[in-house]
Amino acid sequence: MCGIIGILSDYPVGDYLIEGLKRLEYRGYDSAGIAVLQDHKIQVLRTVGAVNKLEQSYAASPFVGNVGIAHTRWATHGGVSEKNAHPHLSCKGDVAVIHNGIIQNYSELRQRLQNNGHIFRSDTDTEVAAHLLEDELGSGKSLLQAAIAIAKELRGEYALVFMLKDFPDKMIAIRKSSPLLIGVGQNENIVSSDALAFLDKTNRAIFLEDESIAIIGKKDIEVYTFSGQRRKLHAIELAAEFSLPDKESYEHFTIKEIHEQPEVIAKVLEQEPGSFTLFRKEIERAKRIFIVAAGSSFHASLLGRSYLSEYAGIYSDVVLASEYKSVAKWFDDDCLILCVSQSGETMDVIEAAKTAKQNGATVISIVNRSPSTLEKTSDAVVRLNIGAEVGVAATKSFTAQAFLFYAVAKGNMQAHDAVELKGAMTEVLRHEAMIAKLSDIISRSKDVYYLGRGLNYAIALEGALKLKELAYMHAEGLAAGELKHGPLALIEKGTPLFLINPEDDTYEETLSNGVEVKSRGGMLIGLSTKPSVHYDFFVRLPEVRREFYPIVESIPLQLLAYYSAKVLNKDVDRPRNLAKSVTVK
Ligand code: M6R
Repeated sequence: MCGIIGILSDYPVGDYLIEGLKRLEYRGYDSAGIAVLQDHKIQVLRTVGAVNKLEQSYAASPFVGNVGIAHTRWATHGGVSEKNAHPHLSCKGDVAVIHNGIIQNYSELRQRLQNNGHIFRSDTDTEVAAHLLEDELGSGKSLLQAAIAIAKELRGEYALVFMLKDFPDKMIAIRKSSPLLIGVGQNENIVSSDALAFLDKTNRAIFLEDESIAIIGKKDIEVYTFSGQRRKLHAIELAAEFSLPDKESYEHFTIKEIHEQPEVIAKVLEQEPGSFTLFRKEIERAKRIFIVAAGSSFHASLLGRSYLSEYAGIYSDVVLASEYKSVAKWFDDDCLILCVSQSGETMDVIEAAKTAKQNGATVISIVNRSPSTLEKTSDAVVRLNIGAEVGVAATKSFTAQAFLFYAVAKGNMQAHDAVELKGAMTEVLRHEAMIAKLSDIISRSKDVYYLGRGLNYAIALEGALKLKELAYMHAEGLAAGELKHGPLALIEKGTPLFLINPEDDTYEETLSNGVEVKSRGGMLIGLSTKPSVHYDFFVRLPEVRREFYPIVESIPLQLLAYYSAKVLNKDVDRPRNLAKSVTVK
């Protein structure tokens, strides 16, 4: 996680760096900082909290300089505090560094550096890199030699950018696993974790290959391998999908993205025929299929597994990306790994994809953001095409992933499917005012439960995840049949339980489970096509074909989480402790 940006220019860079950070904030927002080379000195400002805090402090006393770096942090090592905010300086203040990733062997390096007299000012893993570079340059090494020495020392995954007092016209960037790219401008170059940071300046970018060192000037860029071999540079033109998102008249990106779903669902079908056919062919060819994903993408994959089973007659396994190692021994050339990730940057998914490739398996990724590290690691990619999702909570990407799985399982891309879904999604969004009122009641509860069976089980999990991350409330999604195997003991008078129960083949059994909750004093909220006397509240679902119910059901639950978060005054687009891309393990 963490967003990093560095720029060398003919013009003062301070304001630009702050603007860039705002666009990178989806990567973390615990603290932020900026360093600018001003009058032969590295000036640093760091603040706790989101980038707007840094912006306010910076406006009070801005730096003047044409070279600078900046960082927005998602804390890993070292608490959320000003001293742990990046950039970090070396002892003499000659080297400043920003970092995304984790340096695994930082403790031993720190000990060694301290034994050699280095004074540390933070608790982070990152700071070792500044001290190491100071030592390497102090011993007379060139920038490249010093960078190679550092790359040899550091274990873990990292994107590092160094600014140097004694080399005011150069920056060093080192990439291992964590994404890093360089925007190639007119007399200026910008290095960042994401092209969003520099798109308004240039759409020409060099994506640094894994294990690369870049020595970056204003007009020149040299890239090397970790053993010092010069790499050929390929600048590519970035596509329009990198355009900067706009909240329009909505209060938050999250609610905008919830409302976009009826419109964007058809975009999922805008696939190149070749990629769709290949996807289908690979599914039929593979002897084993593993679907690897995290969070909401994992929940969409559970639905995907059911669709593949029911409509394509294909068995697959769904694996949490962070647990992929438990099945990695089955990854071989008979195997297809479907990696599902909105961002395409989730570290665990990328690692699973790399392992699968090494073992000879075919990897197809389903992503939204593009280009991404995941798609570069895959044999083929299928894109959701639904535009940027800015809110940290996955909403439109979840429904799009589910629909894409459905289309693949059916083996065809039918426009009328998207039309049917669009109609139903539009209809269910009409309950918004009612759900906002319901959120007033739900947000007073200690615990909230979601129950679903069959295809609806994944939606119980997803509904609970939305409430946890947006409203910071304890919520659990359960398979309806599991209730009496333990969780029923948690039901007290007034405990809210969402019964996800359209009139499909699971209707009767699931209703019985709801009644069991009701009999024990629980408050029953039915999401169904059919009212019931047992429901304390009823959210009417539009009638659609059975396989589309889960996609439609997820929308009222997204709204519920959104309005509960609003009632509780939470930061809806940027929930605490989270980030949109989880680029560490
Ligand atoms: O970018 P990805 O789809 O790989 O992200 C996976 C999860 O981090 C993500 O779905 C997360 O759980 C969301 N915040 C859920 O709303």
